Amino acid sequence: MANQDFEIHVSFKHRIRFTRGAFSSGNELLSELLETRGHSKVLVFVENGLKSHFPELEGQIQDYLSEVPGLRLTGVEWLNGAEEAKRDDAVYLQAMSAIERHHIDRHSYIMVIGGGAFLDVIGYAAATGHRGIRLVRFPTTTLSQDDSGVGVKNGINAFGKKNFIGAFAVPYAVVNDFQFLHTQPELTRRAGLIEAVKVALVKDREFFEWMEAEVENLRALDEKTLEEAVQRSAIHHARHIALGGDPFELGSSRPLDYGHWAAHKLEQLTDFALSHGEAVAVGVALDSLYSSKVGLLPVEDAERVLRVIEGLGLPLWHEALEFRDMKQKRRVFNGLEEFREHLGGELTVLLLDELGHGKDVHEIEEEIWESCAEELKVRALATTTV
Ligand SMILES: NC(=O)c1ccc[n+]([C@@H]2O[C@H](COP(=O)([O-])OP(=O)(O)OC[C@H]3O[C@@H](n4cnc5c(N)ncnc54)[C@H](O)[C@@H]3O)[C@@H](O)[C@H]2O)c1
Ligand SMILES: [Zn+2]
Repeated sequence: MANQDFEIHVSFKHRIRFTRGAFSSGNELLSELLETRGHSKVLVFVENGLKSHFPELEGQIQDYLSEVPGLRLTGVEWLNGAEEAKRDDAVYLQAMSAIERHHIDRHSYIMVIGGGAFLDVIGYAAATGHRGIRLVRFPTTTLSQDDSGVGVKNGINAFGKKNFIGAFAVPYAVVNDFQFLHTQPELTRRAGLIEAVKVALVKDREFFEWMEAEVENLRALDEKTLEEAVQRSAIHHARHIALGGDPFELGSSRPLDYGHWAAHKLEQLTDFALSHGEAVAVGVALDSLYSSKVGLLPVEDAERVLRVIEGLGLPLWHEALEFRDMKQKRRVFNGLEEFREHLGGELTVLLLDELGHGKDVHEIEEEIWESCAEELKVRALATTTV
């Protein structure tokens, strides 16, 4: 018998860049970033939602790329973005058809400019077209710049389940271009900051305390403060993916999913009326309060977390927490079982044992958790009626 095990090591470079006006003439970041192998084609996908905010963008892309030796722009394709684009395979197939039509090959680049949902769809097309085409992501929302855009996941929804079809693929580069950061509606811009709060809570107490001190500026979306928060958060997320030991999520421990088990369920229960960022705000509030109720986190630290969430103008509670199933069980609590299924093994939820540090637990006590939901409800209703 010639049975044998082979180790296959493949290493990736995860390039994270920050700039303003990547396609402005004189900005050398992109021309230095892209390796050209003789002649590389570039196909750019931009989400339709950006057209009204950046009417000059297509012209700038054309002018910029025409000046870079060794690169040839084959086209700029405008497609629909937002969660709708992930609901089925329509946008994915439009992207695939464009990849075929423009004769994009494995020496080419795909660039994608858009929010987290658009990056997920086009990223999936790039990961599967010719079994993988080099992808340069340009996230355009707070949430995608400070979190999802610097990740390695791509996908679309199917069978009513989020991200059911997808692929892990390390992008060639992620360019966080701050020119895109200031045009989203205010609430969604602020809501995206919850991912920075989240990563600070599990990784970096000093970063949390900085956000606590800057909460007024962050709430006011002061450009400089927002950009600093985005940069620090993006680097934390990328560092965890690159150095955390589990880039393709084979294990059950997911520190970057702190507060997310309830959040994912709340998004689903509200049919996505509640945005991801707002849902995560509620989830982080709940899991932080719960961490203190089970004696892991000092009570005053949980209070500090709640105050930062309130300070950012984000919710601590949502009425969907009250939805109950036939057995009168809170439906959000069924999210725990779905989270376990999603992990594919033992339930593992990260709680906080101090600000800036998490601890995995394998059980959530329903009664204690209910008392947290009740406490947050009272607090949220008191502040909204004042
Ligand atoms: N791949 C991952 O690791 C990962 C992680 C977390 C979330 N996600 C996914 O990200 C998606 C949410 O992403 P999101 O919060 O970036 O929102 P989004 O992509 O849904 O975009 C929200 C809206 O903002 C608009 N928009 C985008 N950029 C804009 C700009 N600069 N100015 C004005 N409007 C703009 C879009 O057109 C859209 O209507 C969800 O589908 C979620 O599942 C993926
Ligand atoms: Zn998230």
